[in-house]
Amino acid sequence: MSNLTQSNTWKTLEEHYGEISESHMRDMFAEDPQRFEKFSLKLNDILFDYSKNIIDSKTMEQLYQLANDCDMGRWIQRMFDGEPINQTEHRAVLHTALRNKSGEAVMVDGEDVMPAVLAVQQRVKKLAEAIRTRSWRGYYNQPITDVVNIGIGGSNLGPLMVTEALRPYSLHDLNIHYVSNIDENHINDTLEKLNPGTTFFIIASKSFTTQDTMVNAETARQWHINAAGDDRNIDKHFCAVSSNVKAAVEFGIDENNVFQMWDWVGGRYSLWSAISLPIVIAIGQENFDELLRGAYEADVHFKNAPLNKNIPVTMAMLGIWYNNFFGAQATAVLPYDQHLHKFPAYMQQADMESNGKSVDRQGQVVDYSTGPVLFGEIGISGQHAFFQLLHQGTKLVPADILAPVSNIKCIARHHRALMSNVFAQAEALMKGRTEEEAYAELVAAGMDEGEIKALLPNKIFTGNRPTSTFLFNSLSPATLGSLIALYEHKIFVQGIIWNINSFDQWGVELGKKLASGILQELDDNEPTLSHDSSTNGLINYYKELRLKNKGESA
Ligand code: F6P
Repeated sequence: MSNLTQSNTWKTLEEHYGEISESHMRDMFAEDPQRFEKFSLKLNDILFDYSKNIIDSKTMEQLYQLANDCDMGRWIQRMFDGEPINQTEHRAVLHTALRNKSGEAVMVDGEDVMPAVLAVQQRVKKLAEAIRTRSWRGYYNQPITDVVNIGIGGSNLGPLMVTEALRPYSLHDLNIHYVSNIDENHINDTLEKLNPGTTFFIIASKSFTTQDTMVNAETARQWHINAAGDDRNIDKHFCAVSSNVKAAVEFGIDENNVFQMWDWVGGRYSLWSAISLPIVIAIGQENFDELLRGAYEADVHFKNAPLNKNIPVTMAMLGIWYNNFFGAQATAVLPYDQHLHKFPAYMQQADMESNGKSVDRQGQVVDYSTGPVLFGEIGISGQHAFFQLLHQGTKLVPADILAPVSNIKCIARHHRALMSNVFAQAEALMKGRTEEEAYAELVAAGMDEGEIKALLPNKIFTGNRPTSTFLFNSLSPATLGSLIALYEHKIFVQGIIWNINSFDQWGVELGKKLASGILQELDDNEPTLSHDSSTNGLINYYKELRLKNKGESA
């Protein structure tokens, strides 16, 4: 039995769960008119309403107590101080240094990293400005019209999500493309529309060894060489972002075009680093600085706010409440802003790669549930797809709703309709519809008793389905920066409670290793016999059809 589940606070929470789990939020709201004020927090223009959760004051007191028991304040300090809290990789966790606007030093192994961080930011700014102002020229002296970021995981999802989110702040005559999939359709579909003379590639890979990215980078290089005639102009069309400068240079990229990142920045936390290059090209340095400022303000809040006023801590502890006491297996992220359409995919990596762990910091297999399955979609689209399960399914899926009070180019008719859905969905999930209400509606619709009897059970919504809502003024760079940082810190807090390392990702290694062995087996058409019967069967079916297809096309 772990210390966590044996602790007094955990046991108190288990008992309390027994008391509260049968209560309905409908009644909680009816009994306490102050519930919204009591259970909502603010950071700048971001309102975080968590009153539609199955909680009362005692729940929150005990959850904060649990955070306190786990020495949360000290862990937060350790992260910001650059201690090597990613202990399996012996690394500090300092994405916060990349947005540190305090002017203070951040020490790693006795060295202040801020001068190097700022120097790389300056280089990113310079290149981005040259491309934006059309002074960066391609091999036949044309300005760049298209930038292709080749990267995967954190070297793709963060910049992609932010580029999409801040589309209204972007230059309109400069297109940013993202290629991540090793499936050649991705790069082919992207390149077929582009002109090699006006296309600039960013090879984004922290390790510069990731197979998907390396294969795509080679294809891009060849595409360029085929058009340009040789590789003499590679430096006009390629740059790299990596902590493995040597490998980038060996690939053929001019060292002056390599932007460094550091091993204390995890891939899924790297959008604040030079991995941001496509973002800065799209939105410009001033807007990017705003993104950093927003994140920094969330960092300051996270570091200084008491646990019970701390948004990331509150988000995290609500997640613990459902995950570990209600047994919820999943959680949903539902943005109601079209520009946040990549936010759920980004959050999926951030959360699931961080907290999808089953071994604790001491190397023991945990005896409690850790990170949930995170999924999501633009809320409006989700309503017409999977919300049925959220409303009436047998599973409890706590959800986050994110919505802007206004859009940059706001057409009132659209936005009001959008917002009516935000409020209605959260209310419906919370309140549900009782048997009496459903009955009255069916009577009002003119149905006879027989029809009502048949339909009534389907019309009942139990409600009591938790949501937390983030309302913010508009999706400005600063607000987006704050939102991302709040979620990053939520993930951190949950990792501390579960006593796991949120900053490594050993679980992605095995598949990579097996793939490199299987790749060699795919070189010939001999039957493969070295695996289990399923894997052999699949490989051999592939080889058979491949051979047949070749025969047909020959
Ligand atoms: O395979 C997982 C992973 O290591 C992620 O953690 C990372 O963001 C991604 O691959 C890409 O890695 P890299 O930037 O080193 O190419």
